[in-house]
Amino acid sequence: MRTKYCGEITPVDINTIITVCGWVNKIRILKKIIFVEVKDTTGIIQVIFNKKNDAYISSVLRLRNGFCIQIQGLVTIKKSFNLLHNTLQEKIIEIIGFTCLIFNKTLPIPLDYTKKNKKDIRFKFRYLDLRRTVMFKNIETRSKITTIIRKFFIKNKFLEIETPVLTKSTPEGALDYLVNSRLYPGKYYALPQSPQLFKQLLMISGIDRYYQIAKCFRDEDLRSDRQPEFTQIDIEIAFSKIHCIQKLISNLIQKLWLSIKKITLKKIKKISYYDSILKYGTDKPDLRNPIQFIDLDNFFKNDFQFFFPWLLKKKPNRIISIRIPNGINLISEKKIKIYEKFLKKIKLNQLMYIKIVDIDSFNIHIDPYLSKKIKKKQIYQIFPQNIICNGDIFFIVAEETNLANKILSNLRLKIGIDLKITNLEQVCPIWITNFPLFKKDKHENLKSMHHPFTSPQYEIPNITFTDPCKILSSAFDLVINGCEIGGGSQRIHDYNLQKKIFNILQINKIKQKENFGFFLNALKYGAPPHAGLALGLDRLTMLLTDSSTISDVIAFPKTTSATCLMTGAPC
Ligand code: AMO
Repeated sequence: MRTKYCGEITPVDINTIITVCGWVNKIRILKKIIFVEVKDTTGIIQVIFNKKNDAYISSVLRLRNGFCIQIQGLVTIKKSFNLLHNTLQEKIIEIIGFTCLIFNKTLPIPLDYTKKNKKDIRFKFRYLDLRRTVMFKNIETRSKITTIIRKFFIKNKFLEIETPVLTKSTPEGALDYLVNSRLYPGKYYALPQSPQLFKQLLMISGIDRYYQIAKCFRDEDLRSDRQPEFTQIDIEIAFSKIHCIQKLISNLIQKLWLSIKKITLKKIKKISYYDSILKYGTDKPDLRNPIQFIDLDNFFKNDFQFFFPWLLKKKPNRIISIRIPNGINLISEKKIKIYEKFLKKIKLNQLMYIKIVDIDSFNIHIDPYLSKKIKKKQIYQIFPQNIICNGDIFFIVAEETNLANKILSNLRLKIGIDLKITNLEQVCPIWITNFPLFKKDKHENLKSMHHPFTSPQYEIPNITFTDPCKILSSAFDLVINGCEIGGGSQRIHDYNLQKKIFNILQINKIKQKENFGFFLNALKYGAPPHAGLALGLDRLTMLLTDSSTISDVIAFPKTTSATCLMTGAPC
């Protein structure tokens, strides 16, 4: 139907007759001529029709924005073209229209392509939202990314293997989506939260290198980087250690950034979970922001209840600070109040600060709360001397450890963006390693930090489980610009160790048999050592397209309340 795409017409085509297909983007009717912009997925081209030409004028006059059309015409150079000011190809070339065929009319388009539209209207008319160039580019980039990924794994001798979607629960910390069984009333299939168990079974089958671009389903609270249905780049390698996985995936990440963004990434560094929490209060640090935490426990710890009476003796507490250079000039009292209000929403008790106006003359401003408890002269006891500069603001929080980390890491991120301390041009990937194997939930029950198939670190001689929270795991995450892109680990390939982990997690024998019996049994048949990882394709694409949410890189996403506004699912 077409001989050219709108965005691919170049000066080489001048004086040739071409046919384009697409939608009317804009129409302007002047005295003698009519300008019609035709848009397809590659770009926009302007077509000129002479009002006096009877052959097509009746259909051209019927055109409205969004009509689906075919146009034949002669490619010419624009009369108004000025080489000095117009460099864009679409501004240089236009078509003199000969024919205009209307394939289909349209109802008025409910989206305004020149403005930001509301999310619910974009989701309801997703097929029209996808006509926007930016959305098309995102979907196109996603397709390029999967092509690069496939080529990469094929080159590295991986087999692409599909695993079942109608299956039994594979726990990854969320709830399962269930599918009714017609033949067995009252029984259900679970949609996989990941292909974890199946890829491990493939290792027992003798598959050496597995990969899959796999759909995963998790019923959990949603946010801008979480969808109930998302895609993983899932890999597993037999007879392998985690450093091999990290090396391979580092190469893939570098390749993707080079091919898609033309950015050469440096070697991806590692930081332990412990250090990450210590320095940034989170295991997803955004390293484009150089601010690090300063621990103030030394000064305050002996008398912490005098300084901060809201801290409980029995709970682990943390007293920490961040230094904002030149903060005095950049952050007003009003702004501090706004930060405090924002942090109160995540249960902050008191945001404290110290402003260093002039350190030599001890011209220091301490916030009203803290000024009742400390003296200006104590500044060198609180902070190391070598880090204090005139103009600094030190923000201080003292809370139960997890809360303190959460509050100050949020403030670090917010100030980083507000004061442009975070360099948004940078790409900062990092491997987070040495995670604990278990964590405690709010009822003090042990849970796997990753999933229960993660191996403890082998270095621990004759692993003892007297204090399970102290055991380090072999798990690792890949974080890029503060976003968790992937996670993996060495797997347990020993039947007894796997049972032991289930026991620690208080999965009783009946449940072990019921839920994982098939898997435990398979471990008895010469399971090889193996390791693997999964990357979130949606999150990866979000970063590679500079999008702010994964819903912008998924053709048909769900809302944050897990509904599809277009189809009306679930129903
Ligand atoms: P994990 O649960 O860490 O590990 O998932 C791997 C990666 O998948 C992405 N991801 C999501 N993306 C969008 N929406 C979601 N709801 C969502 N949940 C997870 C993230 C995450 O880093 N089986 C293990 C991997 C392994 O050990 O091999 C697993 O699924 O980018």
